[in-house]
Amino acid sequence: MAKTSEYGFGEFPFARGWYMIGAASEATRTPSSHRYFGKDLVLYRGESGKPYLCDAYCPHMGAHLAKNTTSYIVLDGEQMEGENIRCPFHGWRFGPEGGCNHIPYSDFVPKAAKLRFYPVEERAGILWAWHDPEEQEPDVPLANFGGHYGEPGWVEWKIDLMGDLDVHPVEIIDNMADYGHFTPIHGATEWQYFANEFKGNEVHQYYSAGHRTLTANPEDMLMLDTWYEGPGFLQSEMEGAFDSFIMIANTPIEEDKVRAWHGLMVKVHDGSRETTDADRAAALEYQEGSRLAFAQDVEIWANKRACLNPLAIPNDGPYGKVRQWYKQFHNPRSETKAMQAKSDGMHVTLDKRVDKSAA
Ligand code: FES
Ligand SMILES: [Fe+2]
Repeated sequence: MAKTSEYGFGEFPFARGWYMIGAASEATRTPSSHRYFGKDLVLYRGESGKPYLCDAYCPHMGAHLAKNTTSYIVLDGEQMEGENIRCPFHGWRFGPEGGCNHIPYSDFVPKAAKLRFYPVEERAGILWAWHDPEEQEPDVPLANFGGHYGEPGWVEWKIDLMGDLDVHPVEIIDNMADYGHFTPIHGATEWQYFANEFKGNEVHQYYSAGHRTLTANPEDMLMLDTWYEGPGFLQSEMEGAFDSFIMIANTPIEEDKVRAWHGLMVKVHDGSRETTDADRAAALEYQEGSRLAFAQDVEIWANKRACLNPLAIPNDGPYGKVRQWYKQFHNPRSETKAMQAKSDGMHVTLDKRVDKSAA
């Protein structure tokens, strides 16, 4: 599959943004090994309960901080101390401020003994890391997922791992503009409206059509406002048989390999009563319908070749504008505003809504 440079997106191989790195349950007091952004990484939870993500290799002599079961530091339970992690090789200890803060056999601690820690947030049952090629603090806050997580009347999502796909992340984001795939892939029926709006670091998809399975009655419409805030995850407010909120995360492992997850929260009542087991079962079933819809995309992505230049026709949606929007995350922050100006605006691919006021 193709690298970022082959697509011509800019100088950074991995796009700047917030990314899902796993379910909240994956951060524990036993450090674990992960790979994202072309890097080996270590995830652990501090004594305070805060999750941390850091580079995997010790600056001293390069030992992996999580891949060890036989060092006496690990066997004696000395690897984790407070918010710190200790290397299993010679016992150098590192904390979230990034520096080595203890060497068991030396009072001298070199300033160069640094370990990179990444900004991490735990939200909506998920761990999110900030990836920035320029190593700066986040310039955008992490989304609040519609405020629905924990909201009365809503059933929280379970996380569906969709797999590791041999595809550049942009091919997932292309879906935002891809009007033509919704009928063959997802079973859209009567179309009313399909448009994209580009607003700075956001791209929205406004969608209104019938659906074979996700509406209560065949004549009902599925209405979605779907958007990315940055490159790492899709959010969608959907009105169908239930009001629901979709999250689809894509996190690059390599430039041409991406991990994808799906989650769906469902509004089962207005918050004025207790949520029952029957409500939860209905929400799970609805999530499964949405997961299956996403799996229809995943099967395509898992088997396609790279698409460096879509052979686009006028009735396709604005793939080119989505890719122009996406470039802002592959280039220095100093260029962001100029790049956003190139994609900002509205593109209506299809509008069959009846204008009642004109009647
Ligand atoms: S390699 Fe980590 S302490 Fe020596
Ligand atoms: Fe799709």
